[in-house]
Amino acid sequence: MTESLPEQIRSGILASPGDFLHMVAGVLDERADLFVLVDKSHPLTRDFEPEDLVSLKAYSLSLFWGDVPIRKAIIPAVVELARAAKKSGITLVFSSGYRSFEYQKQVYAREVKNYGQEMADLESARPGASQHQLGTAIDFGSITDAFAQTPAGKWLAAHAWEYGFSLSYPRGFEKITGYRYESWHFRYITKAGTLLQRTYFGDIQQYMLKFLNENRASLESRRQRSPRRSLYNWARKNTRPNRKSMPAPPISMILCRSESLSS
Ligand code: DAL
Ligand code: ZN
Repeated sequence: MTESLPEQIRSGILASPGDFLHMVAGVLDERADLFVLVDKSHPLTRDFEPEDLVSLKAYSLSLFWGDVPIRKAIIPAVVELARAAKKSGITLVFSSGYRSFEYQKQVYAREVKNYGQEMADLESARPGASQHQLGTAIDFGSITDAFAQTPAGKWLAAHAWEYGFSLSYPRGFEKITGYRYESWHFRYITKAGTLLQRTYFGDIQQYMLKFLNENRASLESRRQRSPRRSLYNWARKNTRPNRKSMPAPPISMILCRSESLSS
């Protein structure tokens, strides 16, 4: 299950599978559509559009210009993030949210026209391949490299994860994500998601979403097997007719599931 992950991440997971599965269970408790993998190899269809889009205008937030549509499902998280920033004296400026397939087509075409296809493919998703089409990705501030050095950019880099927002395209992982570093682009993946990403996936969203995308069914089935059932199986295996005392079950079996993850 973990073969395709970098060795360091894989060994971290295999060192404490019980704790890992416990944290994964937190993610599986959240709505699955918040964890859909969208990248260069996993595009959305042309007609995919979230059903619960709302305008950020209605929530007294600071918008860069025009309108910023976002999924209603994540509005409480967006408001919580903006309030927390405000408490630290920072006004978050929301610049881009949901983008339709057709709109992304224009964005990408403009990039190609201005910078050529090779550069465009590093900076802009092709239509269908943008996380913005999910309605749960947000660009903040100027959408330029200068954003990283602004108070808002620094605050988001340090605190966005506490509110469930994850930097999608971190510095140094261009080959993994397919895009250059974007200090302004965050995707909401819930607090359970950012905790799992930081603890077990080297804080790299791409690794975690790919892993969840490839293994969700198997992880779900492990979750549905209750600890009681595991304990029952363990006890059955260890009980012999004349056996006077049983060894204690492994602690991980009591706390949560800890089957091998190497399959
Ligand atoms: N700039 C990011 C990769 C997008 O176009 O979705
Ligand atoms: Zn973006």
